[in-house]
Amino acid sequence: MATVISITSGKGGAGKSSVSVGLAVAFAKMGRKVIILELDIGLRCVDIMLGAENQVVYDLGDVVSENCTLSDAILSIEGFNGLDYMAAPANISSDFHFDRVLDCIRSLKRSYDYVIVDTPAGLGISILSVKNLSDLALIVTTPDPVCIRDGAKVATLIEQADFHNYRLIINRVSKAAMRKSAIHDLDDVIDGVGAQLLGVVPEDAEYQYCLTQGKQPDEKTVISRVFFAIAARIEGSYVPLVVEKL
Ligand SMILES: Nc1ncnc2c1ncn2[C@@H]1O[C@H](COP(=O)(O)OP(=O)(O)OP(=O)(O)O)[C@@H](O)[C@H]1O
Ligand SMILES: [Mg+2]
Repeated sequence: MATVISITSGKGGAGKSSVSVGLAVAFAKMGRKVIILELDIGLRCVDIMLGAENQVVYDLGDVVSENCTLSDAILSIEGFNGLDYMAAPANISSDFHFDRVLDCIRSLKRSYDYVIVDTPAGLGISILSVKNLSDLALIVTTPDPVCIRDGAKVATLIEQADFHNYRLIINRVSKAAMRKSAIHDLDDVIDGVGAQLLGVVPEDAEYQYCLTQGKQPDEKTVISRVFFAIAARIEGSYVPLVVEKL
């Protein structure tokens, strides 16, 4: 049975989709079977990040409205063993019922080691996803006061839902970003969100470029090593954080 990991943030643009892809690629390269289920209804982007934009025929919306079977909507990502993707519905539809999404995830759990749920920004679907079906929630924040406060809100709401297995990913970390936000060190971010740190992802223009081209960075790059470390830590290995000196 898969471990279901919901990737959340209060604020939009914190890097949920980028982290979902980086983590899924790391798990796949470690030999795990993993699927990214994209829940950003009407605003899909993971297809572009995975270079699968022209291959999506059916999406989660089709599964929910019974236009296709679950397996029809699962896309295997070329160049990887064991990396699958189910796209978010391209359009918002009135017959999209979250209960059907839960059924879908329950079915996916049987076939994978990890189901990575890329949730939309805000406090609706992300909180539902965490409390109803996740084993682990990752709260993604950048070193930005608004993003940190919104991440803290997510942490509070999932605590209130009696869900305690959540961790923090600080994304887009650079000296310049910290300076601009008047954040002294990563402890300010950790204390601000109130979640235990799992990983620190640097600001990386090359990674951003790769994702626009649907390519994944080389395994030797710092960003790949960061995602391998996060994946290994999720599996309980003691792997130090890969953090460049700030
Ligand atoms: N570590 C990083 N270094 C450089 N750019 C990044 C990094 N992480 C994310 N980005 C860029 O930031 C932008 C937003 O990232 P992404 O789409 O992953 O955020 P999101 O939280 O999923 O957004 P949304 O709330 O809209 O779903 C993208 O252009 C992405 O390439
Ligand atoms: Mg996203």
